[in-house]
Amino acid sequence: MAVIRPATPADADMIATVHIAAWRAAYRGLMPDSYLAGLSVDTVSARWRQRLEGGGGEGRFEEGGASAALLLGEDATGRVVGIGAAGSARGLDEPAMGEIWLLNLEPGAWGTGVGADLLAAATGLLEAQGYGAAVLWVLEANARARRFYEKWGWEPDGVTRVDQSFGFPLAELRYRRSLAP
Ligand SMILES: CC(C)(COP(=O)(O)OP(=O)(O)OC[C@H]1O[C@@H](n2cnc3c(N)ncnc32)[C@H](O)[C@@H]1OP(=O)(O)O)[C@@H](O)C(=O)NCCC(=O)NCCS
Repeated sequence: MAVIRPATPADADMIATVHIAAWRAAYRGLMPDSYLAGLSVDTVSARWRQRLEGGGGEGRFEEGGASAALLLGEDATGRVVGIGAAGSARGLDEPAMGEIWLLNLEPGAWGTGVGADLLAAATGLLEAQGYGAAVLWVLEANARARRFYEKWGWEPDGVTRVDQSFGFPLAELRYRRSLAP
């Protein structure tokens, strides 16, 4: 089992490094090269530091009126290789619905089990907070992530969207899973 712990503002550089490495590896060909090349550790790190400083501890942060907690997964040497966030479902008027906001591993940690441990910790957090079910959004073309979520009991619920928030279109599917009472 990987060590999973809540993020602190002091982790911001590592969070950004993992985030960017994961995106560059997983989204090549799915997002414009120029966008991926332009991602900056300093910019992403500053955003995470600010969010976590405003969250009140235990990895909590807010975005757009919704709140979540950011968890970190470490490899056997104690290095942070994965990040995962879970909280209330964004954009849904369903108080009992949680959401996995993000899950990213640097490519060296793919296939090592850290992702499964992070996903289990994130869903466990939602269960502990009383959510009855959860959703997550995944790129339609992200075959590896879809296979991973399906392995852990998540299923597409038929809802789709085209996310334009990055300035280019991203076709996404919503996945859903019931949580333990
Ligand atoms: C998504 C992610 C957390 C999954 O963690 P992981 O350690 O890679 O997952 P696993 O190796 O346990 O499972 C991946 C599954 O996809 C399969 N797979 C690998 N490459 C694949 C591909 N190109 N197409 C389809 N399936 C693939 C693997 O064989 C494995 O299935 P199996 O266990 O039945 O063999 C990790 O890959 C990651 O961080 N990716 C980059 C960011 C990302 O895409 N995040 C998800 C955002 S919604």
